[in-house]
Amino acid sequence: MDRGFLFGDGIYEVFPVYNNFIFGLDSHLNRLQKGLDTINIQNPHSKDEWVKLINKIILINKDSDNQAIYLQISRGCDEDRKHTHAKLIPTVYIQSSNIRPSSKDHLLNGRAALCRDDIRWSKCNTKATSLLANTMYAQEAKENGAEETILCRNGVITEGSSSNVFIVKNNYIYTHPKGTLILPGITREFIIECAKQCEIQLHEESFSEEELFNADEVWVSSSTREVIPITSINGKQIKDGLVGPVWSLIYDQYQILKTSSDNLL
Ligand code: PDD
Repeated sequence: MDRGFLFGDGIYEVFPVYNNFIFGLDSHLNRLQKGLDTINIQNPHSKDEWVKLINKIILINKDSDNQAIYLQISRGCDEDRKHTHAKLIPTVYIQSSNIRPSSKDHLLNGRAALCRDDIRWSKCNTKATSLLANTMYAQEAKENGAEETILCRNGVITEGSSSNVFIVKNNYIYTHPKGTLILPGITREFIIECAKQCEIQLHEESFSEEELFNADEVWVSSSTREVIPITSINGKQIKDGLVGPVWSLIYDQYQILKTSSDNLL
């Protein structure tokens, strides 16, 4: 009778953990709070309690090099299956998975992507557990040997099925602005920080499907995959089909940032 199971009525977070250190902890917890506020679930724990719980799971799995902590809060169990609900006690689920983000060597050939219509609802900034459109598109990508499905709403590229999207054109980086059409990725924020540190101009401006296909470079980003270069979309090569120099700089800067204990987010 858990509404997480029956309706996908819940909010989740994924925290990357490097060497037992939670990368972007505050940003992830803040986004979790916003999601819970949006769907009106009371946060069952204080920040300190979350940190204790997450660290407990990290410790149990401390032999894994890097972990992704998945945390889900559903509205809880009701007496019957119905769309409306009484005031319930939220259910908390936490798990750790081993993550091994691809090394630079492995990424140097680039990855393929698909581009499809963004058919999702219009609260994409909420990290809700109901992810049908996302999982269908992720599966389609997998079945086509692609890394990701990039989504396009009314001719504008929003994000990936489980990632944010960046393009490079004439040495400027572009990514869709925050708002209701994308999830405000924490990795996206770190990449913005990396671009500043590398003194490369980054514009939080939307770009069209045509601009995606005509870009010099395309990347996707997420907490578990970091920054992945995309060199073909729907079977069409991006520029010369090679991984780009701006990606290489940002990738290196991201590796520095993720292991520095004083990261800013
Ligand atoms: N997904 N956009 C969507 C739709 C996502 O699902 C994700 C992450 C991102 C990137 O967000 P972040 O940089 O904070 O991971 C963007 C996670 C990893 C998941 O669903 O497992």
